[in-house]
Amino acid sequence: MTLQDPMLETRPVLNPLREGMRVARAPEPTSIVIFGATGDLVHRKLIPALYNLAHDNYMPTVYNIVGFARKPHTNDDIRAQYKQSAMEFSRQKPQDQIWDSFANNIFYMQSNLDDLDGYKRLGAELDGMDQQRGTAGNRLFYLAVPPEIMPEIIDMLGKSGLNHSAGYTRIIVEKPFGRDLKSAVDLNRRLHLVFDESQIYRIDHYLGKEAVQNIFVFRFANGILEPIWNRTYVNNIQITVAETVGVEERGEYYDNSGALRDIIQNHGLQLLAVTTMEPPPEFTPTDVRDAKAQVLRSIRPQSFEDIQANTVRGQYGAGAIGGLQVPGYRTEAEVNPQSETETYVALKVQIENWRWAGVPIYLRTGKRLPKRLTEIAIEFNLPPLMLFGRDWVNQMEPNTLVFNIQPDEGISLKFESKIPGQDNRIRPVNMDFRYTSTFGEAAPEAYERLLLDAMLGDPMLFTRYDEVEAQWAVISPILEAWAKIPAPTFPNYDAGTWGPKAADEFMRRDKHKWRRL
Ligand code: BG6
Repeated sequence: MTLQDPMLETRPVLNPLREGMRVARAPEPTSIVIFGATGDLVHRKLIPALYNLAHDNYMPTVYNIVGFARKPHTNDDIRAQYKQSAMEFSRQKPQDQIWDSFANNIFYMQSNLDDLDGYKRLGAELDGMDQQRGTAGNRLFYLAVPPEIMPEIIDMLGKSGLNHSAGYTRIIVEKPFGRDLKSAVDLNRRLHLVFDESQIYRIDHYLGKEAVQNIFVFRFANGILEPIWNRTYVNNIQITVAETVGVEERGEYYDNSGALRDIIQNHGLQLLAVTTMEPPPEFTPTDVRDAKAQVLRSIRPQSFEDIQANTVRGQYGAGAIGGLQVPGYRTEAEVNPQSETETYVALKVQIENWRWAGVPIYLRTGKRLPKRLTEIAIEFNLPPLMLFGRDWVNQMEPNTLVFNIQPDEGISLKFESKIPGQDNRIRPVNMDFRYTSTFGEAAPEAYERLLLDAMLGDPMLFTRYDEVEAQWAVISPILEAWAKIPAPTFPNYDAGTWGPKAADEFMRRDKHKWRRL
């Protein structure tokens, strides 16, 4: 193809970053209905995110935020509570004038979530708002409720006819999306009875993180990486999601869930997919999600024996983090004092495709670890020949490319360098890119990005039904195998340490070691 090729002239000019940016990022007027409007997530994440969008002028010219929940509240009540939450959790502290004009758009409706009349009243309210306030029949439903309540709400939305309207109707579904493969397939089926897949936005907030979106750009807007991004050059990949927090106020949810379901099934596997997917033909929601689904489906299913060898479970006991004493998991509020739930997990997976066959991929996550840090480290093979004397072989460290997802967002490349001086001594050094020093300004929070994308109708950073099912197909056999083998004696790591000893032994058996963070 030459530059004069007429085909080139007729092709649309694509923004190199993402399809969503071809349109101005100004959403149409809409009503956002939040189911579970008094829950923790709404206070900590959703209201602060919506406020920040308003603050930065990204909200539509007209919008309604309608809280829908069981407890009785007035509009004034809920506005005051949300203001408190924004004061505590918002990236930008609420300014009175901006807050007041934002809060005027917040309304509350009390109803049982299984009461059809409540949904009919909601429909009538929304129609009234469309007329009086000009929201044009656009609706964005947000299911911020535990998974066991979701099917009921979805059915009710269908029965009350709220699954379509004069404008668009979309539904955002929070995680956890089911609790195993069977329940996730069932939830997809229930959703698809009422909504078309194009209306469904499954949240994995890690995809909304700036540094995760930058993996797409880093991999597909640079030419030097593709030739080495494969089994010939990559030795292993380590994905770490380390948290210092315990279970906070979510003991009941967490005790029923555990680290594998809470982090690995969703965030961990999405980080893996973004890192290892094939380059999509175009940067569109369909192509990107096809490529992610494909690599997720290529993760080799593990047998019972594999699972025994390739997974490590941990639970924290009391300890100290940053000099502060913290209690053990079993004494946290709403946690069973004999709980066998894991708060730490390490595992190995393999992707069976031409690019990655044979490359071990290690994932680990834990609560009450010494640091809050999420990173993806790609470790490359050592050079085939050591020129600097046999003595150096054991001391050489492999080139490692690290995506620092949080808290210090950036990308770094480790390579060996000569130490200045008369002899040939070498030592690893880092080439570093840091968002804060390069771009200065603070990036929007993940939920800001995702809520705006949902209002704009851009599903690229949301998980499609087949991705979610492929993720569970990896995780469900592990849960089943664990149910058959007794858990290790818990607690098996102290808060403030890097997890159980067994996790280090597991790496040693593989002739690898966890990165020191
Ligand atoms: C959530 C989990 O999905 O992610 C929490 O349910 C976890 O247990 C949180 O703490 C971590 O998110 P972030 O953005 O703080 O890394």
